[in-house]
Amino acid sequence: MKVLRTIEETRKASRAAGSRGARVGLVPTMGALHEGHLSLIRAAKAQSDVIAASIFVNPTQFGPNEDFTRYPRDLDRDLALLEREGVDFIFVPSVEEMYPQPSNTWVTVEGLSERLCGKSRPGHFRGVATVVAKLFNVVSPHLAFFGQKDAAQVAIIRRMVRDLNLQVQIEVCPIVREPDGLALSSRNAYLDAQQRKDALVLFRALSRVQELFEKGERGSAALIGAAKAEFQRIPAVRLDYFEIVDPDDLTTVSAINQRTLVAVAAFVGSTRLIDNLLLEP
Ligand code: PAF
Repeated sequence: MKVLRTIEETRKASRAAGSRGARVGLVPTMGALHEGHLSLIRAAKAQSDVIAASIFVNPTQFGPNEDFTRYPRDLDRDLALLEREGVDFIFVPSVEEMYPQPSNTWVTVEGLSERLCGKSRPGHFRGVATVVAKLFNVVSPHLAFFGQKDAAQVAIIRRMVRDLNLQVQIEVCPIVREPDGLALSSRNAYLDAQQRKDALVLFRALSRVQELFEKGERGSAALIGAAKAEFQRIPAVRLDYFEIVDPDDLTTVSAINQRTLVAVAAFVGSTRLIDNLLLEP
């Protein structure tokens, strides 16, 4: 596995693959890899000839009071995992390599970027869209793989690719969960034993919604009410949002008549966790 630190080397590796006619699959990550990331690598492996990944804790998607400096970083472990999964090359740029100073150009997917996590994390999706566009320009992948756990991120990246006519196919892989239902996240590492238990309320609330939906409930207000009742039982967890939205434009829907996204974000202590569920009538 080649570990590439510069844009130039990475472009060369990707061009060399392209000129052999190989399809390049990219898995962008911020490191602190878990089974969710590895499922993306395996999907990339199944659909591409050359597997590229990136590890870059992107400062522009963190707010001033968020966890950029303490975000878990363990490059040696991550590289060993990626090597074992058969990744061909990994792009590990520095902040200086990715953001020449001053950087004045941003990608903003208007409207969508202010919904769901964008409401409480202003600027977050501008940082995500910008860095993902940059990674696409560096690696020129044929396919790029993202996790369904960040459902708003998926909608925003899909819209950016469509609006900017980017030549990349976006593939989305299912959420990977712990046996008790907690969605895998690099931020789960912040939780102590009690918080780890409390964090299960996100999955419980989504499961309750799924259960009521399967019994025939289609009204968003009733489903959200039932989910919020689960949160009221765990006062240590502070709900940020629980919303039922269109998965493509993230606008709220009052009744579930088509494929719909049920999305939640909550603070467990100071750790902000997200999870979601897709409902198909
Ligand atoms: O999902 C993530 O880990 C990040 O938001 C991404 C897509 C790698 C951009 O920094």
